[in-house]
Amino acid sequence: MLTRRVLIDTLAVMAASETSSAHAGEWWRGAVVYQVYLRSFADANGDGIGDLQGLESRLDYLAGLGVDAIWLNPCYASPQRDHGYDIADYFAIDPVYGTMADFERMVASAGARGIRIVMDLVANHCSADHAWFRDALGAPRGSVERARFHFADGRGVGGVEPPTNYDSVFGGPAWTRVVEPDGADGQWYLHFFDPSQPDLNWAHADVVEHFDDVLRFWFDKGIAGFRVDVAHGMAKAAELVDVQAGSDFHPAWDQPGVHDIVRRWRALGDAWPVGPRYWVGEVWVTDSALARYLAPDEFHQAFSFDLMLQPWHAESLRRAVERSLALAGPYQAPAWALSSHDVHRVATRYGQEVDLGDPDPSDMISAARRRGPVDAELGIRRSRAAALLQFALPGTIYLYQGEELGLPEVLDLDPEVRQDPMWFRSDGEQFGRDGCRVPLPWSREGANLGFSTRANAAPAWLPQPADFARYCAEDQFEDAESVLATYAAAIEARKQHFAGSDSLCWIETVPGVLAFRRGRVACVVNTTNEDVELPVTGTVVLSSVPAPSGQLPANSAMYVELE
Ligand code: NOJ
Ligand code: CA
Repeated sequence: MLTRRVLIDTLAVMAASETSSAHAGEWWRGAVVYQVYLRSFADANGDGIGDLQGLESRLDYLAGLGVDAIWLNPCYASPQRDHGYDIADYFAIDPVYGTMADFERMVASAGARGIRIVMDLVANHCSADHAWFRDALGAPRGSVERARFHFADGRGVGGVEPPTNYDSVFGGPAWTRVVEPDGADGQWYLHFFDPSQPDLNWAHADVVEHFDDVLRFWFDKGIAGFRVDVAHGMAKAAELVDVQAGSDFHPAWDQPGVHDIVRRWRALGDAWPVGPRYWVGEVWVTDSALARYLAPDEFHQAFSFDLMLQPWHAESLRRAVERSLALAGPYQAPAWALSSHDVHRVATRYGQEVDLGDPDPSDMISAARRRGPVDAELGIRRSRAAALLQFALPGTIYLYQGEELGLPEVLDLDPEVRQDPMWFRSDGEQFGRDGCRVPLPWSREGANLGFSTRANAAPAWLPQPADFARYCAEDQFEDAESVLATYAAAIEARKQHFAGSDSLCWIETVPGVLAFRRGRVACVVNTTNEDVELPVTGTVVLSSVPAPSGQLPANSAMYVELE
């Protein structure tokens, strides 16, 4: 006789194989991808900075959580001015993170646990320490060396003004003036981020060929694919003209040439001998522009930032889900994320809105990095509910390290310890992103709350606040009601109940409550501050907080197996 559990497992396997026949080999469809910000994940050699051996030592934790893949933030050789998003050598591991042998062993150990590795591809810019840029600084105006970047003469008498009016994403102008080899004031070079991150010129054949080699090199190491950094930025317009106020046209963003690059990479990955490689783009463009990046010969996925930027309101969350599903269309699947290394942590954001109101739609990214008073318990309660919401969605779920512990953003870091170029370039007007990058607390005992696995370790590269101890993974492991237990249960429920289909069916309910079904199980979310009646009938499979029968408590979510 079949037990209920066996029956459920059998149905889940059948459903999964139905999906896989339609989308053979697309392991990422429905997967849970855990984002490892290596610097802050686990430190094996005790220098206070996370590293590859540290990651390897914690792979069982990730396997236990039910993670299918890791997105690894950049670990290439880099002077770390933007913590790895400034690459000096694309074919080397930064010594601070370990060796190439460490990398290879980590990929193999992850593979042995069924976990794939997705690397980060930073191709819009490199580091000012890259040999190409050094060569460019030592070479004259108009040289081949300079042509791999965007060098231009300044405007005004003596060329003292930047060539155009572009702003850097991190604040200040996007141009920096160089000193020519003969000591004279010289040309300017373009950098849409920090001056230590010169933008590459994608119209130059060397750049195109270099990145083909980069892809082959890392695919050869057994990685599953790439997350592409600033994917809408790589190609620039032929003429770098001023940005006009009120115009949608920007010579640096979403230029047609970007699609040639993406198609080239997709073709290279598709033809990879051991099977197609996976692509997910970081693409900040309008919805209508995004569709092109999701064409069948471009990225498999682009992040659905829409959901991440929404306030905790059922109606706006629903609209964001609908928009992303519509954009993905019948062939693709959205890549959802509620947090990342670039925005304030979800547990803090959802605890802020009480005081701050809705974000300004014209500046959505700032909505994810706001200051202001935080109701920490409310934020955690809502983020537990949000976890159930996201793990019920069709598509791929990106989980940022520490989200599963309910970690808050550290908003009160001492200015002295801050490192984000965004903080410096905005003269402290923006906190930047250090607060979501504070090293993880693994245990109450142990160096740096277990972040460093060696005794007598150096202090963590960003100090952990004293109350980080209460979030440590070890304690949460023991506690069936913990945030970690809720995440693990939601991921397990996802695999059991939501693996079979790519679609969802909304259930109409009262304002402030979100409800949809996928197959036989419904996900219901109450975003209001009042308890409501459970809007569906059936057996509760999982609840984000303890709940009386027939009730959906304030700021909570449930999975309900429908009658
Ligand atoms: C986006 C990355 O996610 C961010 O961390 C980085 O600073 C910029 N791109 C520049 O590479
Ligand atoms: Ca280390």
